Amino acid sequence: MIIPVILAGGSGTRLWPLSRQLYPKQFLPLVGERTLFQETALRLSSDELLASPIIVCNEDHRFIVAEQMRESGLTASKIILEPTGRNTAPAVYIAARVARTLNPEALLLVLPADHHIKNIATLLDTVRTSASIAQDGNLVTFGIKPEYAETGYGYIEQGTKIDCAEPAFRISRFVEKPDKATAEQYLASGDHLWNSGMFLFRAEDYMAELEEHNPRMAEACREAVDKGRADLDFYRLDRESFEACPSDSIDYAVMEHVRNGAVVPLDAGWSDVGSWGALWDIKDKDDGGNVTIGDVVTHDVHGSYLHSTGRLLAVVGLKDHVVVETSDAVMVSPKDRVQDVKKIVDTLKGGD
Ligand code: GDD
Ligand code: MG
Repeated sequence: MIIPVILAGGSGTRLWPLSRQLYPKQFLPLVGERTLFQETALRLSSDELLASPIIVCNEDHRFIVAEQMRESGLTASKIILEPTGRNTAPAVYIAARVARTLNPEALLLVLPADHHIKNIATLLDTVRTSASIAQDGNLVTFGIKPEYAETGYGYIEQGTKIDCAEPAFRISRFVEKPDKATAEQYLASGDHLWNSGMFLFRAEDYMAELEEHNPRMAEACREAVDKGRADLDFYRLDRESFEACPSDSIDYAVMEHVRNGAVVPLDAGWSDVGSWGALWDIKDKDDGGNVTIGDVVTHDVHGSYLHSTGRLLAVVGLKDHVVVETSDAVMVSPKDRVQDVKKIVDTLKGGD
């Protein structure tokens, strides 16, 4: 049995001002009619190999998660609530510990809630064919052919072919978020793939890896689960134990160190909905190459992303920009600077 684990506890700061602390991007309908979180849960529901998901999110978002699952006609195996964010390595360890109580043999399919995937049948096929590789004790990642030197992703150096029928390779090296020059080198090498952020492994293999590389984190997570308590449909982690847990991502804490890593190439129209530029890439454009959402009027505007949630947004003579209007904030940025929106959010937080 494969138990999906949906990681829905991120803050999505690069999509400010639409994505907010109380309502981060994964809970917004950014690409289609459904929210990114709903799309993630729904894309799994058609396959009988997959059990109902374990969802790990921040306790502030528990009712949003429950309501969006209900609205999609889906049920969760468990909704685990974090009292605070400690990044993805603890979230996955905790999900693994809980999954083992549901099924000791379970494989976990870890899924971020901030992706758009065009070809769901291909994704499910790739997951299915990778199951035996994970069953053999490998930590499987799904690798995407890189298109440009993105510095916000993990890079996987594809090693030798694993001796099996599936197109699976050893991970020679995993490097999370390299600097620009290194990313360019990886892109040029032709033997690197982007880490999609989706993983498939036996719960116990991941737990053993984290216990080896970060025993303090593993111990805090065990305590947070064991001292936690059920509350309605939710499982609340113990606050004190979880607050004592170090913060790190699965990529830095585990994947950069694993010896039994495997990568399976995935070609399913994957995109990370990480920034306004990424949204512009995915969405349909008008004749001027603009994405316009809401009440927008333009004259001589090209290659831009223009989003109004209420007021009329009138734009003249702009090229390759992003303009996002919300009731209490307006953001304007050149399209190639949208990664820096995070800096505005940091500044605003500092001013609290
Ligand atoms: N439960 C929980 N708790 N979930 C979290 C937390 C947390 O503290 N922090 C982040 N998440 C969720 C996010 O909501 C998202 O769905 C997922 O975990 C991944 O976190 P991101 O913060 O979006 O990671 P990233 O985009 O910087 O990098 C990851 O994804 C890239 C591809 O999109 C890495 O895995 C990269 O290697 C990868 O290339
Ligand atoms: Mg992300």
